[in-house]
Amino acid sequence: MRRKGAPRILFVDGPNLNVLGEREPDLYGRQTLAAIRKAVAETARGEGAAVEFFQSNHEGEIVEALQRARDKADGVVINPAGYTHTSVAIRDALLFCGLPAIEVHLSNPSGREGFRKISLVEDVVVGRISGIGGYGYVLALLALLHHLRDEGDRGRG
Ligand code: DQA
Repeated sequence: MRRKGAPRILFVDGPNLNVLGEREPDLYGRQTLAAIRKAVAETARGEGAAVEFFQSNHEGEIVEALQRARDKADGVVINPAGYTHTSVAIRDALLFCGLPAIEVHLSNPSGREGFRKISLVEDVVVGRISGIGGYGYVLALLALLHHLRDEGDRGRG
């Protein structure tokens, strides 16, 4: 059950997203992760939400961030990056944290190589946003806040 007050949303980014802006810009754009976070933080301020950001190139660190989120956040926006397609451990940690999550991707993995069409988290998230670059993170925040409000309304109903 979500506590009262500003909803707390944790953004989790996986490997190689720390070099956004320089990394394959034709595919991922020129926007840096810092610029994406700034846009997310501005939107969060307008929505009265509290956001926290975490990025790691290491699977175990992502697992631990999700474990900690269980008691510290109300929802998660996650771009597991390359781990999307391989990590049972991140899927399990998402299930452990028990929080509603939105999966986000800058590119559209479904339109790329075959191995990217598989997501090990797609069935444990509320929904997925992909293919619209960094703006997808802002949309993911709005989608998650909408979901949390909706859940709260149903709880009262
Ligand atoms: C990505 C898509 C993944 O397939 C890839 O490994 C990434 C980024 C995206 O945001 O489009 O690192 O998650």
